[in-house]
Amino acid sequence: MSPIVFIMAAGLGTRMKSETPKVLHPVAGRPVLHWVVGAARAAGAGRVVAILGHKHEIVKASLDARFGVGGVDIALQPEQRGTGHAVQCALPAVANEPDDKIVVILTGDAPLLASERIAELISAAEKSPSGMALLSTVPPRPMPYGRLVRDSAGVLQKIVEHPDATEEQRKILDTNAGFYAIRLGHLRRDLAALKADNAKGELYLTDLVAHAATRGGATSIDAPFTEVAGINDRVDLAGVELSARRRINEGWMRAGVTMIDPASTFIDADVGPLGKDIWLGPNVCLRGKTSLADGVRIDAGSVLTDVTVAEATTIKPYSILTESTIGARAQIGPFSHCRPESRLDEDVHLGNFVETKKTHLMAGAKANHLAYLGDASIGTKANIGAGTITCNYDGVGKYKTTIEAGAFIGSDSQLVAPVTIGRDAYVGSGTTVTKDVPRGALALTRVKQVNVEGWADRFREAQAKKRKSTEPGK
Ligand code: UD1
Ligand code: MG
Repeated sequence: MSPIVFIMAAGLGTRMKSETPKVLHPVAGRPVLHWVVGAARAAGAGRVVAILGHKHEIVKASLDARFGVGGVDIALQPEQRGTGHAVQCALPAVANEPDDKIVVILTGDAPLLASERIAELISAAEKSPSGMALLSTVPPRPMPYGRLVRDSAGVLQKIVEHPDATEEQRKILDTNAGFYAIRLGHLRRDLAALKADNAKGELYLTDLVAHAATRGGATSIDAPFTEVAGINDRVDLAGVELSARRRINEGWMRAGVTMIDPASTFIDADVGPLGKDIWLGPNVCLRGKTSLADGVRIDAGSVLTDVTVAEATTIKPYSILTESTIGARAQIGPFSHCRPESRLDEDVHLGNFVETKKTHLMAGAKANHLAYLGDASIGTKANIGAGTITCNYDGVGKYKTTIEAGAFIGSDSQLVAPVTIGRDAYVGSGTTVTKDVPRGALALTRVKQVNVEGWADRFREAQAKKRKSTEPGK
């Protein structure tokens, strides 16, 4: 029986002090709420219902973009009157479900929950006579979490929220992590009985625990704090980001990736696959949907966003690559910049201060120093000299430069697009190409060189004389 999962995500997130809804802040590049939906799906959820309120249009658009329109059902909580009220607002979405169905309720602001934990919650709720289970945690420092109050036999009696707790109760180490599984019949009845007689004047979902106590007590499962930590402010966000980074990096290291310094290696949650024997230098950032094949080396300070790299390619320090595809055995950097839609085939070399955009360099093509290659197609084994610029933009439109296989572009050349340099052609250094160059031809627009014999010597002599005649006293 696949469970139904509710995710509470309607809150204002006031403590974030942000225009962006709290649940859309990214952790390792992935919005917090997407992590929670992902965990629910990985746990085999039949339906996921996100309870939205604050800026719900933006949150829904973000869910639709990732999980498809209707991939996550939405229940609206028009006013945020507490977590109990939030779940009340989701009940119409499950009106046709039977009372013995298990509903999992997750807090939308805690992204690192493992899907196995959801499975544990479900089986605990199924086994418990109370029909309810929840995750508890012991935070490493005092947190304003709900405290778990037990009787002398250890049976859960109730949860006391931090603002309502006495000094004595605040000393309880065991706190509520904010994740629950409960049979729908109990949920329906117990939610209807909730009262807002508390410090915040809200309907607390946590009051369900006192109801479960009348049925023998909810089962609590202890979870490590790093896995269940909720985000309420940006200090929490940074803490969760750090935990996410550690988890992601450990996963990749165990899968065969070497990191010189895992603490300064930043890999987004959606990066992958990463092959074997990958080597990552310090301060490397892999973002978006970047993937690397076997034997790729990425050296210090390089940032790759949505980039695919084939096997045995080396990216030297401080290279920035975005939305690009790099072939096998390529050599990139140091200080290369591949802007969106750059396509580099196998054995391409790109050196320092070379920028590409919407450009395809075919196998073995080389641009080793100082060049701008935009809207260009560069054939196999073409050689692009230092200082080459494709003049692709006239202030209005963008135009294409085609450099055919084996062509040699001399240093400091400007190729004014649209233009084609034919196969095996030469462009002499310093040329401004404005017309197509036929196959095998030489294009040259240089002014002819003149050598004036002895000119430099004569010039210096004349200067020296002039200086003497203007010295004081002469
Ligand atoms: C809640 C728990 C607390 C627990 C803590 C763990 C309650 C009453 N308290 O407190 O016991 O220790 O989580 O992180 O449940 N939300 C709504 N609608 C609302 C209010 C909240 O959808 O009207 C959502 C929020 O968007 C958030 C989640 O519910 O994702 C938790 O709300 P939050 O205000 O963060 O509760 P805490 O004070 O953290
Ligand atoms: Mg919270």
